[in-house]
Amino acid sequence: IIGEGGSQKVVASLPSGESVEVYLFGATVTSWKSNGGKTENLWVSEAADLTGNKPIRGGVPVVFPNFGPPPATGPTSKLSQHGFARNSRWEYLGKSSTEDALDTSSVKLDFGLDRNGISEEHRKAWPLDFGLVYSVTLSKDTLQTVITVRNEGDESFEFQFLLHTYFRIKDISKVTVNGLGSVEYVDKVLDATTHTQTEPTLKFNGEVDRVYKDIKIDTTSVLEDGKPRFDVTRDNVKDTVTWNPWIEKAKATGDFAPNDGYKNMVCIEVGAVNGWQKLEKGEVFEGGMLVKSHL
Ligand code: BG6
Repeated sequence: IIGEGGSQKVVASLPSGESVEVYLFGATVTSWKSNGGKTENLWVSEAADLTGNKPIRGGVPVVFPNFGPPPATGPTSKLSQHGFARNSRWEYLGKSSTEDALDTSSVKLDFGLDRNGISEEHRKAWPLDFGLVYSVTLSKDTLQTVITVRNEGDESFEFQFLLHTYFRIKDISKVTVNGLGSVEYVDKVLDATTHTQTEPTLKFNGEVDRVYKDIKIDTTSVLEDGKPRFDVTRDNVKDTVTWNPWIEKAKATGDFAPNDGYKNMVCIEVGAVNGWQKLEKGEVFEGGMLVKSHL
């Protein structure tokens, strides 16, 4: 662990130069470098607060136990947008690595959060007994992030979960997203109702905020200039949000900088946000993603 107070982070690298950086605050991955350490794959705002006072704008914030604004009623109704996991300090549980041949070595970092680790205010708002373990595994050209949610209390609870990944790209106008054709989505920009994507690819020429539901194929791919850039493979989750704030919303978002940073990022966020995941006493949910970088 390096740094102090709310800025503490864990960094790890492979002998071949690839690296990953994770803030304890939110267990937010803020850097993932592939290609021997030469290619940064994640976008982080220049105005991101990295002191543990508010969710980090960029990287891979973990959304739990509610996605988006809290619902009007129910157990998560007193929480804030995207829940408390991204603004709680997680515990570092340790590192394990495999050191096989240079090409197959990997390093895994584990982080934990439970009822005792969240603020008094959050405990009151969501009075349920839970345990999260979040594992971040770096390999030569992949990053795998998996969460387990355990119900440690006596009553059942419901949650939503999302990995709000900000991918770094060179030029949003040259980005296409494949793998969402014919899938139903809620369009949060247009009218908050359900549509079906008729085109095989998604392009960006304005604000995009879509919640794709129950996706049948496992991998959503990001291409730049027609060339594969990222393959995002869902692991035991079926939904994916695509988000780019575009000009006005980027400008209006205080911790989003520079203003034209929207050109260099695209959020592809995998998770379980279509309805709620229910866990009975003692039950465990596991889900996440495997991302391959082609650069
Ligand atoms: C996305 C939501 O997941 O997150 C958007 O679909 C939202 O509606 C975006 O604007 C950013 O949220 P926040 O709370 O980090 O500003």
